[in-house]
Amino acid sequence: MTVKVTLPDQESTELLARQIVAALPDLPAGWLVLLEGELGSGKSTFARAVLREYGYPGPVPSPTYTLVEPYSLPGFDAYHIDLYRIADGGELEFLGWSDLENGLRLVEWPARVPQLYAGSDLLLTLKYADQGRLAELSAQSERGEELIRNLPGLSTSYRP
Ligand SMILES: Nc1ncnc2c1ncn2[C@@H]1O[C@H](COP(=O)(O)OP(=O)(O)O)[C@@H](O)[C@H]1O
Ligand SMILES: [Mg+2]
Repeated sequence: MTVKVTLPDQESTELLARQIVAALPDLPAGWLVLLEGELGSGKSTFARAVLREYGYPGPVPSPTYTLVEPYSLPGFDAYHIDLYRIADGGELEFLGWSDLENGLRLVEWPARVPQLYAGSDLLLTLKYADQGRLAELSAQSERGEELIRNLPGLSTSYRP
């Protein structure tokens, strides 16, 4: 299933993130969320809002240079990952990817590693639209489907 949501401003990107957290398990271990969209489309804004909603109080820097920013949350780990500088899937090993698999993974530029899509749960695509953004959220797994069905208040969306 795919839902489209118009996001006229940064607050609505953050609201979508909070709605998705509300539909995710309290311990989202192993969930893989892919974040697509051009530079500045709001991928890091979304990831930051997810981490905040799970209670992370500190700064959430962009992982552009570190590639992986780890977050220790009550009962689980989360990883904010940026694959922009990754040339192909073979380099995931260098990132220690297999050590991240039990965490909630929020991945920017996932298209660098096409193999990631098969094992993912949700794909969020952000596009520029007027001054705001258009989000397309699509399920990539059974539990992703269930999450989208349980999303509250998608009044601005349609379900094709
Ligand atoms: N729905 C939206 N409408 C307009 N601006 C937005 C929206 N969501 C986020 N922004 C703004 O767009 C920029 C997104 O930056 P960032 O999240 O770092 O993008 P990315 O990680 O995709 O490169 C920020 O300046 C943020 O304030
Ligand atoms: Mg970013």
